[in-house]
Amino acid sequence: MSNAWKILAVACCLALPGWGLADEEDPDAAAAHVRHALMELMGWNITPLGAMASGDRPYDADKAATQAQRLSALGNMISDAFERNTSGADIRTEALDAIWQNPDDFAGKAQAMLDAAAAYAAATGDGEAAAKVAFARLGKACKSCHEEYKSE
Ligand code: HEC
Repeated sequence: MSNAWKILAVACCLALPGWGLADEEDPDAAAAHVRHALMELMGWNITPLGAMASGDRPYDADKAATQAQRLSALGNMISDAFERNTSGADIRTEALDAIWQNPDDFAGKAQAMLDAAAAYAAATGDGEAAAKVAFARLGKACKSCHEEYKSE
């Protein structure tokens, strides 16, 4: 065996137990992990839009449109990501039990965010002022769900 193959073989043995662990993760913790990751990505993708809206970064219509498309794709995952009811589970989460007590309202807020992201995407071609107005609506759509369903 060449050295490169030996290193690869060892690396595989080291990596596999890690993957096994992920499979064995408690399903409530796994669900929380996914929705956490989803929201982190939403935050990451909206950050440049916030910077453009506040003037911290020059307006760039192409970049704005790309970010809006990503937010739409991510927003489409919200209902699946929050499908598992983890109320009462022994996990670290900011998701409030109210999500699973008011599933229709929660889904409505996810839809409102999707509508706002689509409106933002449409506005990116209309110039900076239009994008600013659309950004305010998008930010409100995020906030309106957090106010009801996310702990501080
Ligand atoms: C339909 C409801 C809903 C919408 C819409 C929503 N969020 Fe969230 N968000 C949540 C919930 C619930 C949590 C807490 C998740 C948890 O701890 O499991 C959260 C958490 C977060 C977090 C914290 C992530 C972390 O580290 O735990 C960020 C950042 C975030 N959201 C960004 C956004 C952005 C940006 C938008 C809008 C583009 C948005 N969210 C729209 C419900 C929503």
